Amino acid sequence: MDLTRRTILATMATSALAPAARAKSKAQPTKLVDETGHAEVPGGKVWWRRVGSGPKTPLLLLHGGPGMGHNYLLPMKALGDERPVIFYDQLGCGLSDAPENDALYQIPRFVEEVDAVRKALGLDRIVLFGNSWGSMLAIEYMVTGHGKGVEKLILSGALASVPQAIAGMERLLDALPNGAGKRLKELEAAGQQASREYQSLVQVFYDTHLCRLNPKPPEYDAAIANGAKSPAYRVMNGPNEFTIKGNFKNWERRPDLGKIKLPTLITTGEFDEVTLDCAEAIHNGIAGSQLKVMPGCSHLTMLEKPDEYNAIIRKFIA
Ligand code: PHE
Repeated sequence: MDLTRRTILATMATSALAPAARAKSKAQPTKLVDETGHAEVPGGKVWWRRVGSGPKTPLLLLHGGPGMGHNYLLPMKALGDERPVIFYDQLGCGLSDAPENDALYQIPRFVEEVDAVRKALGLDRIVLFGNSWGSMLAIEYMVTGHGKGVEKLILSGALASVPQAIAGMERLLDALPNGAGKRLKELEAAGQQASREYQSLVQVFYDTHLCRLNPKPPEYDAAIANGAKSPAYRVMNGPNEFTIKGNFKNWERRPDLGKIKLPTLITTGEFDEVTLDCAEAIHNGIAGSQLKVMPGCSHLTMLEKPDEYNAIIRKFIA
C-alpha cells in the first residue's frame, strides 16, 4: 500500500546497479518530507501532517464523518512524491481538540477552519480533495466564495444534498439480504440500538457499503474509533452512517453547483453508501466535470484499492 511510484522506480533503478552501488543507495533511501504541527482555528487547535514536497500544487485533504479523522486517507500519502499532501484532523476528532460544545459543530465554522489551516500552512494555491462529509465541506467552501487559489477539486464518495443521500441509503437498506434493513428499522423503533443484533446488522451495511475489505485495515478501525468518540459526528451526522439525524440533515447545495467553475473530478464506488445518483447530480451540476466509478469498491475507495485510486487522482492533477 505504501509502495509509491518513486519507490518502484527507485527499486527498478537500483537493481540495475553494481552490488556496491546498490548497497550505498539502500543505505540512503529517498525519504519524503514528513512533518506535523498544530494550527489555531475557530474553537481550538487542529493537528496537521504534511507529507512530501515538490513543485506541484499542494493537495489539501478533507476527511469525512464528520469526526472520522485523517487516518483512512493515509494511502494517499503516496501522492507526496510530486507535491505536498496535507492531512488534518478537523476540530472534534483524532489528534485535534474536541471541545464538548455542540455550538462549534456547524458547517460555517468548518468552512472557516479550512481557511485557517490554509493560512497557517501558507497554502495559497491548492488542489482541494474531500471525501464524504469532506466533499460536502469542499462544495460548501466553493459555493460560499472561499475558493480563492483552489485550482482543482476532487469530490470522493460525494454528495451535494443530504436528503438525496438519505433517500439513496434507504434504498440500500431495503436491498440488504435477509430483510436486514427492515430488521434494523424494527430494532431502532424498539430502542434496541445497543443490542448485539442491531450492531451486527450495522456491520452488514458497513461491510457492504462503507468498506468491503475483510479483515479491516487499521486505518478503517481508526476512522470508526474516531467517529464513535467525536462530538462532531454525533452533533452533525447522527448515531451511525445511515441514521442521519444531525444538524446537517437538510443540507442541500444542488442548486448552487453551477457556481463551481473548476476542473472537477468526482469519484464513487460501485457499492458506495452514497449512491450513484448523488455523484451524478454533482457531475450534471458542474460543467466539464469528470465522474469515475470504481468497480468492486464502496465508500472508502482509497483504502479498498489504493493503487488504482491514487493512479486516477495522479492523472487528474498531473
Ligand atoms: N457520514 C458520512 C461520512 O462518512 C457523510 C454522509 C452524510 C453521507 C450524509 C451521507 C449522508 O462522511
